[in-house]
Amino acid sequence: MQKKGLRPIWFDLESKTVKVIDQRMLPHKFVVAELKTVDDVIGAIKEMFVRGAPLIGATGAFGVYIALASDGNTIVDEHLKSECQRIKDSRPTAVNLKWGVDRVLNVALKFSKYEDRADRALKEACKIVEEEAENCRLIGEYGYPLIEAIYRKKLENCQNSQDKGSSRVNILTHCNAGWLATIEYGTATAPIYTAFDRGIDLHVWVDETRPLNQGSRLTAWELLKHGVAHTVITDNAGGHLMQHNMVDIVIVGTDRTTRTGDVANKIGTYLKALAANDNNVPFYVALPSSTFDWSLTDGIKDIPIEERDPDEIRYVQGLDKDGKIASVLIPPEKSLAANHAFDVTPRRLVTGFITERGVCNASEDAILKLFPEYALL
Ligand code: MRU
Repeated sequence: MQKKGLRPIWFDLESKTVKVIDQRMLPHKFVVAELKTVDDVIGAIKEMFVRGAPLIGATGAFGVYIALASDGNTIVDEHLKSECQRIKDSRPTAVNLKWGVDRVLNVALKFSKYEDRADRALKEACKIVEEEAENCRLIGEYGYPLIEAIYRKKLENCQNSQDKGSSRVNILTHCNAGWLATIEYGTATAPIYTAFDRGIDLHVWVDETRPLNQGSRLTAWELLKHGVAHTVITDNAGGHLMQHNMVDIVIVGTDRTTRTGDVANKIGTYLKALAANDNNVPFYVALPSSTFDWSLTDGIKDIPIEERDPDEIRYVQGLDKDGKIASVLIPPEKSLAANHAFDVTPRRLVTGFITERGVCNASEDAILKLFPEYALL
């Protein structure tokens, strides 16, 4: 699913810097950026060199180390905390950012010597990266049987009926919840890669995901590299495909999910869930535990929804005929645009969650059965 060893973030031992893939340039250019200062970290998150909830969390985690290391190891507690707050404020919706920063900060603050703090912060950030990769592998393991069951059923139907339909499993996904958004495997894509690697015949409908086209730029790039059959569709096509039995299952990621099961994800996810519900198509959300917000119960009321620069809607970026990345204006110059980046899908529209501890339905009880340590928060 990705070139061996290639991750969207890593600590480069030679230069002793944190490096990231600049995802704004994909799929047309492969550019690596170095994060040396807290402002670099904030810029990379805000401008979306790095994006996707688990990756933002990992970047924030490295950001704490960078705050410690880039200040000649002399940073005082108050300043360290305010630098961490600046990192946490760089994007509001994905809860992983706060989770990653706080986890590393809490470890660092246990040590009094500056050198120990930086060293432990780096170790903790690297630990988060490894854990998130393993969580996504497990999401693949737990999600695989869902795809396999659909495949077996379709195969049986083909064998028993006169009308020889196809046993190919059609999966619809929105945005990019692949390894670029996580560390390895992805969340929504982990069951897809696992099923594909185990020989299940499958095909992925890739929502282009306007305005920044994370689907057509990033998910399509990932799937293509791995050899997975896929088709890019407009964001509005899913409902039509579902009405015509062309989607067997929807799997998406999430940026923040409440303990009760309300799901914030890239704008447009809610409409896919409504269409899936109307057409009896199972709608699954894949996430590591770092994406649950254990403090929230009402997603629509309480999850902060990022509003981004309207120019992301007004201008579309792509490769021009001369092979240069170019931006073109779409609406009339003077028309206003509004860029709500996420929406919330209420739990009643979610068939289930695929987590590193297994699959459960979208209710507080079921979620807490998998994660009992958060029951009393
Ligand atoms: O604005 P983005 O690209 O950071 O949004 C990402 C998404 O909405 C993903 O679907 C979500 O983070 C899940 S990632 C595993």
